[in-house]
Amino acid sequence: MMTKKQKQVLDFITTSQSRNGFSPSLDEIRKKFKLASVSTAHFHVSRLRDIGYVTKVAHKPRAIDVISNETIVKSTPQPMEGVLNTGLVHTDFLEKIDFQIHGKNLYENLPLNKILCGDAVEILKKIPSNSIDLAVTSPPYDDIRTYNGFSLDLPAVGRELNRVLKDGGVAAMVIQDSTRNFGKSLTSFRTIIDWCDNAGFKLFETVIYRKHGTEGAWWKKRFRVDHEYMPIFLKGDRPSFFNKEPLKIPSKHGGKTMTGSGNRRTDGTTTETVTRTINSMKCRGTVWDYLNAGDKNPLKRKHPATFPDKIPLDFIQCFCPPNGIVLDPFVGCGSTMVAAKQLGRNCIGIDISKEYCELARERIRATPTPLFS
Ligand SMILES: C[S@@+](CC[C@H](N)C(=O)[O-])C[C@H]1O[C@@H](n2cnc3c(N)ncnc32)[C@H](O)[C@@H]1O
Repeated sequence: MMTKKQKQVLDFITTSQSRNGFSPSLDEIRKKFKLASVSTAHFHVSRLRDIGYVTKVAHKPRAIDVISNETIVKSTPQPMEGVLNTGLVHTDFLEKIDFQIHGKNLYENLPLNKILCGDAVEILKKIPSNSIDLAVTSPPYDDIRTYNGFSLDLPAVGRELNRVLKDGGVAAMVIQDSTRNFGKSLTSFRTIIDWCDNAGFKLFETVIYRKHGTEGAWWKKRFRVDHEYMPIFLKGDRPSFFNKEPLKIPSKHGGKTMTGSGNRRTDGTTTETVTRTINSMKCRGTVWDYLNAGDKNPLKRKHPATFPDKIPLDFIQCFCPPNGIVLDPFVGCGSTMVAAKQLGRNCIGIDISKEYCELARERIRATPTPLFS
């Protein structure tokens, strides 16, 4: 819900923008409303951003931009096909978002914890700009699976994802290249370059997903492929949320005592010998290991191309704030939504196949709601 004060702040920003051509600073908002501190002004603006009324570029002065005010003409809500409510909805995110951008009808309410059946690009177009914290997905690529002949415009998906993500939001993708006549298709590299050159992202990192349990040991003329790429795309200057603590991995030599010669000085001599205990857990690098065995879930096995649930679990913990919103535009059997539900985050899923939408619903229903979120 928007409070009375937040509505007043929104009106003040709207008026200042149209009168001066730029938004007020947080300190000007504080003074105008006699707020206790700049943090209180920041809180109100963040709230307006979270419920889709303004955008704000982090670490940049006067960077608030109004994208909706109640005076904007209401749109006709579009019917949503195949909607599921997982019971996870955080009601204060169900604030009405009635507005139009470039004449497109947008969802009246952000369809939280729902699976939307249809083409990813067409459905993404209805999702309001700057409304999503994190996208985790694995697109179909190189016609490796036919998916009943559905086609896909991956460059358009990149552009729409960039639009719907909040500033500082992240899109993590799992992708590989097919091999034909001993040559790789390069789809993963082309997609990375296209999304950075044309969709507005920068490449935060490319993580290697190391797959344990992959087939191919008997291949005679090529290596067994036991990795996929996980490019992590960033919108804006820096991730607005980053918590790598839950992703730590055990240290090989944890608990042992390390004795070293200390640091080398510029004249070549070393500082005194240091002795310290090696921590049991350490920061993860850029090769992430997962068991590729269908998570032993019979429902999940009904889908031909899934990723382990642990992948979205890791990305969500690292890049999605506790009350944030996750999106998977190719939700398949629902792995991303299952992870989001387990972690108490809101999520939106899209898939073109009615069969997979139903499968995902079944999996999500069977996933218990966390006791604490
Ligand atoms: C690689 S699978 C995703 C699997 C998912 N990560 C999981 O773990 O279940 C890709 C999915 O994209 C869907 N798909 C194919 N073309 C699509 C399109 N144009 N729009 C939306 N979904 C599409 C397919 O039905 C398939 O379920």
